[in-house]
Amino acid sequence: MTPSDDTAVLSADGLTKHFPVRRGLADLLARRSRVVHAVDDVTLTLRRGRVTALVGESGSGKSTVARLLSQLYPRTSGEIRLHGSVSTVRGGRAFRAYARQVQMIFQDPFASLNPVHTIRYHLTRSLRIHGNGGRTKAELEAALHALLTRVHLTPPERYLDKFPHELSGGQRQRVAIARALGANPEVLLADEPVSMLDVSIRLGVLNLLRDLKERLHLAILYITHDIASARYFADETLVMYAGRMVEGGDSETVTQRPAHPYTRLLIESAPDPDTIQGSAREAAAHTPEDRGGGEPPSLIAPPAGCRFHPRCPAAMARCTAELPPRLTVGDADGHWAACWLYDPATVASSRAESRAESSRPGATRAAASRPAVGKVAS
Ligand SMILES: Nc1ncnc2c1ncn2[C@@H]1O[C@H](COP(=O)(O)OP(=O)(O)OP(=O)(O)O)[C@@H](O)[C@H]1O
Ligand SMILES: [Mg+2]
Repeated sequence: MTPSDDTAVLSADGLTKHFPVRRGLADLLARRSRVVHAVDDVTLTLRRGRVTALVGESGSGKSTVARLLSQLYPRTSGEIRLHGSVSTVRGGRAFRAYARQVQMIFQDPFASLNPVHTIRYHLTRSLRIHGNGGRTKAELEAALHALLTRVHLTPPERYLDKFPHELSGGQRQRVAIARALGANPEVLLADEPVSMLDVSIRLGVLNLLRDLKERLHLAILYITHDIASARYFADETLVMYAGRMVEGGDSETVTQRPAHPYTRLLIESAPDPDTIQGSAREAAAHTPEDRGGGEPPSLIAPPAGCRFHPRCPAAMARCTAELPPRLTVGDADGHWAACWLYDPATVASSRAESRAESSRPGATRAAASRPAVGKVAS
């Protein structure tokens, strides 16, 4: 783990985004308006010098969270705090001041760079907009060189006057990162920054981001659907399912001892040789259907209770009606899951059951997959 002072830089509390659905004839006749529940009640904190991974399958709301945090979208409800102060900006000067501190990196570096402009143009613009271009030509040139050097595109003069199409995908993503650094930000929101790159160069870009975290003490949100890369790269991992956060904790714990049935499913479907043995054994005990097969739910009419319950092998009656809060899991500091399995009452009754089972003559199977602890998180 890297040294960091753990200061909260950017935090979100109860962040919610509902997109209105265009009304069809049936909606007009029924006088109803429907919304896509893209993000509901997301709470997270990004800390100085730390990477927080946000993991989830396609459509789970990851990019919407990033866009809300960067204030590109207005939110339906919830609060965003930058250094503890509530921040709501709608364009103009306030947005620019916010963007100076909170920058985004997108999935597709080709789409995010204008093909008719050189690297020099992109970086100069970023430096100038954010007041970091210096006062003289020489100062600007030095700032450009420093940016390219920081993203390991050296010697800088080899890249400055190239166009985006003259660079490789990895180099383009490094330019996009350099452009974000032109603002001298404190927070980087990286939305699947390596998923469009060749596998062979992904690690280089992730290592660069890690280097920036360590040297510039950036707070980084790393969005990915690859939970194995979260383990490698992130200090903390948060898991989203159908617009809601379902599990969080330090990356090692969440990936090695996943608590929420959805996180287990994610890990089982993205095998990583040294993570999976325990989960694989458990998975083998279930049929494919009860291992969480099926589709994510409609976000226009999401399931009541826990949104994962229609796919969950461990679903109980209350999961279909009551929304689980964040419940503490085990002894690992800060590990939580929004799952009724970790409700103290459920834990106590499953312990009593397994005691009764093991005291029966000839009983050999303890309920290995039962939750370890369950205490309501504060
Ligand atoms: N501008 C929009 N208008 C209406 N619905 C939207 C809009 N943007 C996103 N959505 C919907 O919100 C949900 C979450 O989308 P989002 O792009 O945040 O998911 P994601 O987790 O980033 O997915 P992916 O891994 O595919 O990038 C999806 O159902 C999507 O269709
Ligand atoms: Mg996305």
